[in-house]
Amino acid sequence: MCGIVGYIGNNAVADVLLDGLKSLEYRGYDSSGIALNDNAGFDVFKAGGKLNNLFDVIRNDAQKIKNPTSGIGHIRWATHGKATIDNAHPHLSNDGKLVLVHNGIIENYKELKAELEQEGFVFHSQTDTETAVHVIDREYKKCGSLEEAVRRGVQKLSGAFAFCIMHKDEADKIIAVRKNAPLIIGLSKNENYIASDIPAVIGKVKKIIYLNDGELAVVTRNSVVVSDLAGNILEKKAENIGFNPEIISKHGYKHFMLKEINEQPDIVRKVLARHVKDVFSPVDADGVNLNIDWNKVENISIIACGTSLHAAMVAKYIWEDWLGIPVNVEAASEYIYRKNTTGKGSLVIGISQSGETADTITAVKQAKEKGAKILIVTNREDSSIVRYADSVLPLEAGIEISVAATKSYTAQLLAMYWVGLYAVEQRNSLSAKNLADLKQGLLELPAKMEEVLSNAEKIKQVAENLNKYKSLIYIARGANQASALEGALKLKEISYINANGYAAGELKHGPIALLDENMPVVAVLAPGITYAKMLSNCEEVKARNAKLIAVTSVKDKAAESLFEYILPVPETEEHLSPLLLNIPMQLLAYYMADSLGREVDQPRNLAKSVTVE
Ligand code: AGP
Repeated sequence: MCGIVGYIGNNAVADVLLDGLKSLEYRGYDSSGIALNDNAGFDVFKAGGKLNNLFDVIRNDAQKIKNPTSGIGHIRWATHGKATIDNAHPHLSNDGKLVLVHNGIIENYKELKAELEQEGFVFHSQTDTETAVHVIDREYKKCGSLEEAVRRGVQKLSGAFAFCIMHKDEADKIIAVRKNAPLIIGLSKNENYIASDIPAVIGKVKKIIYLNDGELAVVTRNSVVVSDLAGNILEKKAENIGFNPEIISKHGYKHFMLKEINEQPDIVRKVLARHVKDVFSPVDADGVNLNIDWNKVENISIIACGTSLHAAMVAKYIWEDWLGIPVNVEAASEYIYRKNTTGKGSLVIGISQSGETADTITAVKQAKEKGAKILIVTNREDSSIVRYADSVLPLEAGIEISVAATKSYTAQLLAMYWVGLYAVEQRNSLSAKNLADLKQGLLELPAKMEEVLSNAEKIKQVAENLNKYKSLIYIARGANQASALEGALKLKEISYINANGYAAGELKHGPIALLDENMPVVAVLAPGITYAKMLSNCEEVKARNAKLIAVTSVKDKAAESLFEYILPVPETEEHLSPLLLNIPMQLLAYYMADSLGREVDQPRNLAKSVTVE
């Protein structure tokens, strides 16, 4: 995923673009660039690596900047071509008169590139994006209108794109156009903004226009005219931006990740206040259009990626127990390429924090085409995946800036818990007492989460003792098998320490060969039918001299001698324990990564949403 920005107005264009890119840095940080249009031509600045490098380039070349009145910018997560200056956006036409930035992927770029090279177009990069520049430039040379050239050119492209485009001979104008990649326009007086996502315009505008697929906007300082690709003018409603500037502040925390970990209790409080008001009231769907007849659902498939897939795994365990409906959980990238049994009676749930994950979008689109009912669970109701939804379940977690998913994971789990209880009530599939106990357990969670967070200093000390190891193993059973996978993912994606999660019962079938004093094992222990077996797995680990770290909601004096460290969480019902046991592992990963000096919020090679398959 990349981030693109555009600006046209009287403020210092370079500063506005850089500020916008800074807010979009979570989308990718392999390279960056801006193009400034001072009506005599373009001044283009590019840098490899982090965005700070672009600030340095522009600062060193400041004398080049004349009086630009508009500009476009880009921050890149490399898909085609390495993260080099040549591949950094913006990309120019061969005559230097047309300039473009792109988020997305042009799937037919190879055949277009061959055709364009045949016609004499010269390529200077390995990117798919540069193909788009020449396709549009070729049209411009035929029709002499940038708007018309873009309209014609993009219809030759397949895949996903959000473009900002300028032309030297049509100054004071930016063309914005999108297909399968987000693009918004921020409206202000005598100036307008374009961006991939809301953080780039928070605090700058109060009203925005969301561009939809196949829509093209001609943006000047005083007007925004939106049309479809046939050229029909469209009436677009300007919407209140709805986010406050505080969202993109760290509030004094060292990293967004630590801030977002600490936001979790209040997010749970807020969601429960809407949907699980007390022990005896029915679960309240309150404005969530769950138009699903739970008594007619024959089978459920939950499709997701990464951390969202782990949330799906917990949901499977809980929902099959509570609802008695078969629940299949699958990585979206696998679901797409196999002959699956999705059909008319299926409920397919797509879980995606960003709502822009290409694999999940493709899978959900495929399921919809097969007649399934689609429920989308997402933190971004303005995202692309929502297009395919029959029902949308918002996470209400607030924008998550850090690449590592934390608060959104907890919000995903909570959403699946309260919707699960809502479905239980529709199907009358649990006793009134069991239902009341579960609601009570949920209502106690925020305070218990705060108790876990108050142990942060102890967890930090454990982290500083573990950060010398090159690999760790995480084990658990039942619903917490997903907790082990999630704990391992958190650690590896931000600390670069190898970490793998296993169903504890699987350890003896191979992974146990890895165990020795250099392979610490994090054991996630919850009360219930799996606890005794988990203890015997811990004995097996101990017998191989591996250090054991317990993350547990069980107080068991007899077992304490097994563990080098114990990260306790307050006791809670087994089914609810993933919501609590996950937090110490988020903090463990955070402190291990931070103590190693890692770029916690922007880990190498990653982006907040993977918008390519
Ligand atoms: C989680 O920490 C990672 N950033 C990644 O696994 C993420 O969960 C995955 O890419 C799915 O993203 P989504 O929820 O936005 O679809």
